[in-house]
Amino acid sequence: MRTVYVNGVFCPEDEGRISIFDRGFLFADGVYEVVSVLDGKLIDFAGHMARLARSLGELSMPAPADETALLAIHRELLARNQLAEGAVYMQVTRGVADRDFLFPPEDTPPSLVLFTQAGSLRDKPAARTGLRVVTVPDLRWARRDIKTVQLLYSSMAKTEAKRRGADDAWLVEDGRVTEGSSNNAYIVDASGRLITRPLSHAILPGITRTAVLRLAGEAGIAIEERAFTVEEALAAREAFITSASSFVLPVVEIDGQPIGDGRPGEIAGRLREIYIEEALKTAI
Ligand code: PDD
Repeated sequence: MRTVYVNGVFCPEDEGRISIFDRGFLFADGVYEVVSVLDGKLIDFAGHMARLARSLGELSMPAPADETALLAIHRELLARNQLAEGAVYMQVTRGVADRDFLFPPEDTPPSLVLFTQAGSLRDKPAARTGLRVVTVPDLRWARRDIKTVQLLYSSMAKTEAKRRGADDAWLVEDGRVTEGSSNNAYIVDASGRLITRPLSHAILPGITRTAVLRLAGEAGIAIEERAFTVEEALAAREAFITSASSFVLPVVEIDGQPIGDGRPGEIAGRLREIYIEEALKTAI
């Protein structure tokens, strides 16, 4: 059984308790981060904590603890669970208060929950076979740049993708792909140029995205940050996704149509390798 962390206490997962009046439960009034773990070490912890601070700031939510304390909790949880490979989920909510649409008083203590999830990250079958995605309308709220726990539409989109025999969904707004259900989306055009949507309120600023774009630039790959249409994606040479839990994974089919030759792309493969190498070097 896992050990989890709930508001200052490490305990067995079936003993972790949160109030029914927690604003995360009643209003999805909370944010989260997912930090991947390789060889028992945290990947890009500083990047995830910077995004957490931004999410909290956008929602006028107090920080549950400073970065040093959060790092100590992450490490303690890894040790207690002997986690070598997988992820740490950290949920922060506005805390417990009488049910009211108004934010509670500013001194309401935030709730802080962390748990681990074991899983293979380096050795993923999808890295060899590629993912099949289907497109669905992006019906999420208009502040997708904030990593809130309000994941219902992403969950619906992914479930619809599975129902249609695919692995994941790409979300589409005004004919253009925003991102995947839980990842950022990319294509490579006929000239080898990597295209991905620029940061805005429309997408989550992926921590893996930042790293992969930097590494791609260093590898001499041309990058164009602009929104692309579904038609462009269907005509692309390659497509792929990035996220903390998937690193870089190729997309080989969109809406039943093969992308390029229908096999994982060369640039996606290279970026996956470079990213993992860099992640192992810089993990803490
Ligand atoms: N998902 N876009 C969305 C909508 C996401 O939920 C995620 C992350 C990303 C990629 O961000 P990052 O590279 O920082 O993981 C993009 C995480 C992994 C999750 O909810 O499981």
